[in-house]
Amino acid sequence: MLDTSFAIHPGNKAKLLNSTYTDIGKLLKAEKKETGFLFQSEFGFVRVSFYTEDTVRVTMNPAGYPSFDSSFALIKEPENINVKMTDEEDKMMLAASRISVAIQKNPFRISVYREDGTLLVAEGARGMGFNEKKEVICYKEMDPEDHFYGFGEKSGFLNKRGEKMTMWNTDVYAPHNPETDSLYQSIPFFTTLRNGKAHGIFFDNTFKSAFDLKTDEDSYSFGAEGGQLDYYVMAGPTPKEVLQQYTELTGRMNMPPKWAIGYHQSRYSYETEAEVRALVQSFQEKGIPVDAIYLDIHYMDGYRVFTFDHERFPNPKKLVQDLLEMGIRVVPIVDPGVKEDPEYKTYQEGTWDDHFCKYIEGHPYFGEVWPGNSAFPDFTNTKTREWWGQNHKFYSDLGIHGIWNDMNEPAVFNETKTMDVKVMHGNDGNPKTHRELHNVYGLLMGESTYNGMKKLIGGDRPFLLTRAGYAGVQRYASVWTGDNRSFWEHLAMSLPMVMNLGVSGVPFAGPDVGGFAHDTTGELLIRWTQAGAFTPYFRNHSAIGTVRQEPWAFGEKVESITKKYIELRYVWMPFMYNLFREAHLTGVPVMRPLFLEYPEDPSTMNVSDQFLLGDSVLIAPILAPGTTHRAVYLPHGKWHDYWTDTVYEGGQHVLIKAELDVLPIFVKDGSILPHGTVKPNSAIKETKMTFHVYAELDGSAEYSLYEDDAKTFAYEDDHFAEININCSFSKNLIKIELNQESSGYTPDWTEYEVVIHHPAPETEFKLNGQTVKGNRLNVNDTVIIKGTLQHD
Ligand code: GLC
Repeated sequence: MLDTSFAIHPGNKAKLLNSTYTDIGKLLKAEKKETGFLFQSEFGFVRVSFYTEDTVRVTMNPAGYPSFDSSFALIKEPENINVKMTDEEDKMMLAASRISVAIQKNPFRISVYREDGTLLVAEGARGMGFNEKKEVICYKEMDPEDHFYGFGEKSGFLNKRGEKMTMWNTDVYAPHNPETDSLYQSIPFFTTLRNGKAHGIFFDNTFKSAFDLKTDEDSYSFGAEGGQLDYYVMAGPTPKEVLQQYTELTGRMNMPPKWAIGYHQSRYSYETEAEVRALVQSFQEKGIPVDAIYLDIHYMDGYRVFTFDHERFPNPKKLVQDLLEMGIRVVPIVDPGVKEDPEYKTYQEGTWDDHFCKYIEGHPYFGEVWPGNSAFPDFTNTKTREWWGQNHKFYSDLGIHGIWNDMNEPAVFNETKTMDVKVMHGNDGNPKTHRELHNVYGLLMGESTYNGMKKLIGGDRPFLLTRAGYAGVQRYASVWTGDNRSFWEHLAMSLPMVMNLGVSGVPFAGPDVGGFAHDTTGELLIRWTQAGAFTPYFRNHSAIGTVRQEPWAFGEKVESITKKYIELRYVWMPFMYNLFREAHLTGVPVMRPLFLEYPEDPSTMNVSDQFLLGDSVLIAPILAPGTTHRAVYLPHGKWHDYWTDTVYEGGQHVLIKAELDVLPIFVKDGSILPHGTVKPNSAIKETKMTFHVYAELDGSAEYSLYEDDAKTFAYEDDHFAEININCSFSKNLIKIELNQESSGYTPDWTEYEVVIHHPAPETEFKLNGQTVKGNRLNVNDTVIIKGTLQHD
């Protein structure tokens, strides 16, 4: 009935939330303890502890002393921070070197300041409290200049001011639209950007939680259905530093194997071995690069995980090996639901060894998913995570290195869309209900799968794709944004969604390119592939019953343009890989919203239809049909059109022409861009590196290219190379210095070219001190200088 106008029947008055708010009231007692400062107020207990020099943790429990239970998100232990405390009549001050806290005593109100005295977080008429159900909540003042980013995977625009958001991992097949709230991931972390400076708040509570940046004009709130109010404030002051601080707590991604950032092809489903082979043959015949083919649920025997349907896939090992020889990886889907079947090994083992989720009374929970009635592993127990991880030997024995985790919210085909919240998770002897641990089910499945695969594949890097997750999911998996549709609106929506995932600590993310449900069109596939070639995760996937969506499905013209952009992904791979390295080291994402690099520029605050790659490349995809022009905002500085070499002055909007085969790309003046070569897949070695130098006038440009073996963890032991290129420009002379700094790894290529865009006509060139004659091209007035890299 709620799908019709009956939903707004006049007799159907919306129920008010009718939630009471009880403030924790006046401070009664303050004590310094080893774990922080403990405060007792009339109606609650608060602990303030300094986690690092720039991060403070506030924990409030209305019912008793805040507990210090370990968190699922955090991997960092608190540091020993020196805190100065001053106690005045009406307030107390707690100061660490880069962040401090003021506590007003009556009523108890907490404010957080940066070292320079800037007020970051403040409480006003309301502070921390709870309602009649003892659900915790707090209110913070909202400055007119506040912009909000992050919150994981949400629909709508980039800036979340004016939104109300719920965190509850949900399988949403209905078309995602701006009022779709909970999706598959719950990441209760956000950055506030105010007058060019940023701070972060991470609300580490796994219950269903809510953020309200809408109801009041001058305050916002966050709270949860259970548990404590437990949040961290990070001082920034730049948005990149906020991300570093947040990912210091929750972890960063490992380096992906290079094949994981190539082009991936999927469909629900490539149903037989013959179909997969024919698919691969088409890629080869057409010369379209591809790194991975996905096997959706049809590969299994009756949708039983860790099995193959031997009629459809008579020889999976041979299939995987044959593809591997061509440099192509197979990625099978693995869902958590284990078919209830007493003759099925995984079900037997799971039952006998007590691995499945069960009710407090001891009987297992069953839910309906693809295999029918199914049990669900209880990933909150270490022994179950190990068992499940070890089961992946089934795949690794075939030569598989990548796994696709789906339906791990967990999704169940019932009214609530998930497991009964009364189910009791074992949680390694500290049992908790599914109501409390629902949001971490996907994260823990990811931990189990990633660690299991890591152990099984002999030192190579596993690849994991997941649909569900919680804060910290970046440690184990890349994330795709679930069941989108082949709508232009969903192409547009995917950009802020992936950018906000990026500023929620998840740098490796992307949507189903071309759209999952609904029928795509050739034009939409082109425009989506253009954008997809530059999103961190690049997979074309579509649903059962939809039109074919492979690059060649719409005739030659569409094929040649999509091919051009898939090839471009491989040309740009050295640059993309470098950005993954940065994400691995700092937590700063590959795909960046403009505010991340230009936090002082008010025009960047809600740019949802453009993104940056690193700090030097701006991508402005076409997001509507029949459109060959668009406005592009270029932040200050000069920008080079990647295709035409036209130079634009930034700090303004420009109108850009983009015929169907053009994705608008701009490179910032003063930067250097490494380009590899087109190749069938990332297993093929790089033979030549080209460095494009974009520097108009006097000054200098530099770039450091990171390379490692792209497949093992040897980089952790410093087996990598950094090739530094430095160009300085003075009147009529361009000096280029190129050398390899660290020698822990020898790059595959020795030959390189430096392409200088727009040097003045009479310029002289010096390469590593030697005068060289460049080859001047009439096209775009560029000069090419050739060199050879000397390996130490
Ligand atoms: C879910 C996934 C989708 C997958 C399908 C069948 O809808 O989100 O990607 O293809 O299940 O496994």
